[in-house]
Amino acid sequence: MTNQDNAKKLAGEASLSHIENGMTIGLGSGSTVYWMIRKLGEHVKAGLDVKGIPSSGQSVAWANEYGVPITDFSRTQRVDVAIDGADEVDGQWNLIKGGGGALVREKIIAVTARKFVVIVDESKLVSRLGDFMLPVEILPFGREVTAGRIAELGGLAKLRRNDDNGVFISDNGNYILDCDFGGIQEPKALHHQLKQLTGVVESGLFPGMADEVMVGYSDRVSVLHD
Ligand code: 5RP
Repeated sequence: MTNQDNAKKLAGEASLSHIENGMTIGLGSGSTVYWMIRKLGEHVKAGLDVKGIPSSGQSVAWANEYGVPITDFSRTQRVDVAIDGADEVDGQWNLIKGGGGALVREKIIAVTARKFVVIVDESKLVSRLGDFMLPVEILPFGREVTAGRIAELGGLAKLRRNDDNGVFISDNGNYILDCDFGGIQEPKALHHQLKQLTGVVESGLFPGMADEVMVGYSDRVSVLHD
């Protein structure tokens, strides 16, 4: 296992400290969350009574594989804690998410949760967001028009594709534009500008949304509080 993988594992497993019996847990997406779900499955087997609301098909599959019971928003609108990864985290708790293309469901879960815990390896900490191309989920119809509007805001938008060069389709049936804005000076303002564009479903900017960030290093976890 690489140092980075180990850091993800440590952060993912450490996040279980937020989980108590009876809780409903928002299950994020990505390779760091994988370790959290896997460990959570062990706790469930040992008797922990919790339910998870997964944010992606991938997280549903992992929850099923590791025996974490699943629920959804038709059964409960209470999420005690959401635990999710991120692609970038700055010093003001602004996040870029959506590297895995699950940003819409991840955000719905995060805004519903009483507590939003972000788990990352140290490579995700940045002084300013924007080296990572900002994922923006858009409706397929008129994608060229929407990309043009994003360009007017200063973002060079590239349609996300799969490894076989087919267009990437999100779990919601939409497209993802990976947008290069250079360094993002005002994450909150940019997020609101993007949200006002017809055709944009959601931006991968999560401005100031984390309640706690757990940072994995190769040999330890550091917890950053709000
Ligand atoms: C998926 C996400 C992930 O949380 C983000 O891409 C981080 O993934 P990883 O833990 O694999 O580095 O936002 O949409």
